[in-house]
Amino acid sequence: MSGQPIIILKEGTERSRGSDARNSNIMAARIVSEAVKTSLGPKGMDKMLVDSFGDVTITNDGATMLKEMDVQHPAAKMMVEVSKTQDDEVGDGTTSVVVLTGELLGKAADLMDKKIHPTVIIDGYRQAQEEALKILDEVSIKVKPKDKKVLKKIAMTSMASKLVSRYSDHLSDIAVDSILQVAEETSGGFEVDLDMIKIEKKPGGSLTDTALIRGLVIDKEVIHSDMPKVVKNAKIGLIDAALEIEKTEFDSKISIETPEQMQAYLDQEENMLRDMVKKVKAAGVNVLFCQKGIDDMVQHFLAREGILAARRLKKSDMEALAKATGAKVVNSVDELSSADIGYAETVEEKKIGDNKLTFIEGCKNPKAVSVLIRGGTERIVDEAERSLHDALSVIKDVVEDPKIVAGGGAPEIEVARKLKDYAEKLVGRERLAVSAFADAIEVIPTTLAENAGMDPIDAMSEMQSRHAQGEKWVGLNGLEGKVSDMEEINVYEPTSVKAQMVKSATEAATMLLKIDDVIASSKSKAPAGGPGGMEGGMPGGMPGGMPPMM
Ligand SMILES: Nc1ncnc2c1ncn2[C@@H]1O[C@H](COP(=O)(O)OP(=O)(O)OP(=O)(O)O)[C@@H](O)[C@H]1O
Ligand SMILES: [Mg+2]
Repeated sequence: MSGQPIIILKEGTERSRGSDARNSNIMAARIVSEAVKTSLGPKGMDKMLVDSFGDVTITNDGATMLKEMDVQHPAAKMMVEVSKTQDDEVGDGTTSVVVLTGELLGKAADLMDKKIHPTVIIDGYRQAQEEALKILDEVSIKVKPKDKKVLKKIAMTSMASKLVSRYSDHLSDIAVDSILQVAEETSGGFEVDLDMIKIEKKPGGSLTDTALIRGLVIDKEVIHSDMPKVVKNAKIGLIDAALEIEKTEFDSKISIETPEQMQAYLDQEENMLRDMVKKVKAAGVNVLFCQKGIDDMVQHFLAREGILAARRLKKSDMEALAKATGAKVVNSVDELSSADIGYAETVEEKKIGDNKLTFIEGCKNPKAVSVLIRGGTERIVDEAERSLHDALSVIKDVVEDPKIVAGGGAPEIEVARKLKDYAEKLVGRERLAVSAFADAIEVIPTTLAENAGMDPIDAMSEMQSRHAQGEKWVGLNGLEGKVSDMEEINVYEPTSVKAQMVKSATEAATMLLKIDDVIASSKSKAPAGGPGGMEGGMPGGMPGGMPPMM
């Protein structure tokens, strides 16, 4: 046996252990956090990201930036996940959470340099997190879930830091109205399903043309010029099969020998198509939406019957239509019956810029709403959509959990201050970790000050001393670059965004601190460009030689 090497890991596996592993993880996570730091707050910068296909995204949204960055290091990937969790849970604060995680790790590294064991830090951080959540809850302002004024302020704050902030007044009104429209009362309060709000975007016009539609907008036009462009009192049919003569799946031959036979064949085909339209008509439909194609002849017959039709709708649009109008999607004309028909007051094709869209308004289900986003360029429209998502999310957060705090770093300063008092009372080494946590959370106001071009030390000391005197909502007025009471400038955020930020950041930081062994199996040798190569082309040498994608 002796002299025989025991091979456990595959050749080429990279392994780092103990403090090496921890340090490299912390370093990677902090690099990511530094990268997004400059985009925090109303004076934060935007990032331009170019993907491997050369598509450009300009954004200020933390989750979007990280998603597009395509990072490689496992710890950096965890940061991407943290911001995604934040996005999924509360929809805003995705930059803050990454910045806070980075700072928690930085402070932990300082403690480890002082020979404090990671497990002690982890315990301390967890303790601090619980206390921080309690403090946040205590300082929160309870509001009415449907208070329009409050909801608007929340929406305005979430958009203050975005490219579209100049239009935040208009966009906030739209966001508040659409959420209030879809909010559903439950036994314990209200619930909001964001999927009920359909977002449609069309570059062109200006952001001020963005509008709320009480119904649905479908990016499809009426297929035949003879069809009506408006139908009042619409009886809507939804079909997810093609209104065409089906082609046989296998090769078949029909032998036609005489002109009469040919005519009979054509007549037969025409009759089949005519029959389809008859069935549609018999069901009482005057507006037809089809997920697949509609034969030219069928279009013609439908037009003659005065039926408005659109084809090749997305599945998601069909589902939304079913929900909104009460129609049932059927998978053949034969199945269509009057019981499957949906209702809307009007269905109308409207010209928006160069495009024609179909508007379905006054639906059976009044909770169906859409927002049609307009804006100068495609990139502006895209960023407007992301910003609107943040605004809708924060309004939803408050409607569902009606507690708010001021923004501008005020709650973080308050939490830090009270956590430091709490740490004073602790014994043992955890107290060091709890104070480190308190210091770390101050990174939010400090960064806001830096990004607003202020001296962070001066700003922090002014804010801290005013907080000590009981002015708990003193924070950073990012737009004017001074310290002021956030209630005066109406900067408010949902408590749930802050609470989620604390939870996710603590979880991610402690998880990374707990790792003392990183075993990375060797990457299979990727040709040309290597792993994660930026080239858009196909890797060569694929078995069977894949054809290039068109
Ligand atoms: N007028 C303002 N003055 C000072 N701070 C503000 C103002 N408006 C918003 N803020 C603060 O900016 C921070 C939010 O910045 P930002 O929206 O860029 O990042 P995020 O919410 O963490 O992430 P993201 O919006 O990308 O998901 C919050 O702390 C908020 O209180
Ligand atoms: Mg935000």
